[in-house]
Amino acid sequence: MSNETSASGRHAGRVAIVTGAGSGIGRSVAELLVREGGLVVAADLTDEHLAWCSGIDHIVPAAADVTAADANDALVSLAVESFGGLDAVVLNAGISMSGSIESLPMEDFDRAVDVNVRAVARGIRAAAPAMRVRGGGAIAITASTSGQRGDPSMWAYNASKAAVINLARSAALDLGAEDIRVNVVCPGPTITGMTERLQEMPAAYEALRRRTARQQWATADEVAAVFGFLVSTEAAAVTGAVINADGGISANTGQFLPPERLA
Ligand SMILES: NC(=O)c1ccc[n+]([C@@H]2O[C@H](COP(=O)([O-])OP(=O)(O)OC[C@H]3O[C@@H](n4cnc5c(N)ncnc54)[C@H](O)[C@@H]3O)[C@@H](O)[C@H]2O)c1
Repeated sequence: MSNETSASGRHAGRVAIVTGAGSGIGRSVAELLVREGGLVVAADLTDEHLAWCSGIDHIVPAAADVTAADANDALVSLAVESFGGLDAVVLNAGISMSGSIESLPMEDFDRAVDVNVRAVARGIRAAAPAMRVRGGGAIAITASTSGQRGDPSMWAYNASKAAVINLARSAALDLGAEDIRVNVVCPGPTITGMTERLQEMPAAYEALRRRTARQQWATADEVAAVFGFLVSTEAAAVTGAVINADGGISANTGQFLPPERLA
C-alpha cells in the first residue's frame, strides 16, 4: 500500500482502532481508513501479524490478545496517546472452528465465546468513555452470515456470531442517545486467512460460491468498504443495523441454487 493518506478523505483526522488487523478483513479495513485520511491503531496477536504496517504513516501497530482483561482498555489508551482521541472502533478479531455438536470440545466453544463475543463486549465498554469525550463515535463489529442460521458442524462459531449480533443491537440502544453508533457487518464467504483451508478444498469452495447470488466469493476489500461507510460520519443515521456483505448467500433458503454467471 502507498504511504499516501488523503487529508481531505472521508476519514480525515478521525482516529480508529481495528482489531484482527493482521490479515483479511481487518487489514483491509485498516488500509482503507488510512488511505482515506484516518489515524489507526491496528491490533492483532503478535508483531509478526502486523509487520505489514511497517513504514506506513498514521498507523500504530499494537500486539494484543483482545481476550486479555486489560487489552481493550490499553488499545483505547494507545489511540488517545498516539492521536488525541477516539472516533471509531472496528471489533473484527475472530476465530472459527468446526466439529459436530457431540465431538467439538467444550473448550473450543468457550474460546469462540471468549474471542467472538466477550472480547467484543469488552471492546465496546472500553471505547464508549473515550467516544463520549468526543461527543460520539462509531463502533462496527464483524459477525457473519453464519450468525443468522445454522451450519453443519459450526454450532460453536454460529452461536457466538448470533450472540454478538444481539449484543451489538442492545449496545446500540444503550449508547445511541450519546451519538455512539453500534453496527454489525455479516460477511459471507470471503477470501481471507480464516478460509484458506476451504479455498484449498475445491468442492467446498465451489459449494459456497454456488450458494451466493453473485456466484463468487467476496474479497476482503469488498467487505472492508462496508466498514468504511459504517464508521464514517456518512452513516450518522445508521445504528443497531445488521448489514449483510455476503454476496446474497443469506437471501437463499438453501433449497435451490441460484443461476450461474453467464460466460
Ligand atoms: N472469511 C470469511 O469468510 C468470514 C465470513 C464471515 C465472517 N468472518 C469474520 O471476519 C472476521 C475477520 O476474519 P478474516 O476472515 O479476515 O480472517 P483472518 O484469519 O484473516 O483474520 C482474523 C484476524 O484476527 C486475529 N485474531 C484472532 N484472535 C485474536 C485475538 N484473540 N486477539 C487479537 N487478534 C486476534 C487473527 O490473528 C487474524 O489476523 C472474523 O471475526 C471472522 O469471524 C469471516
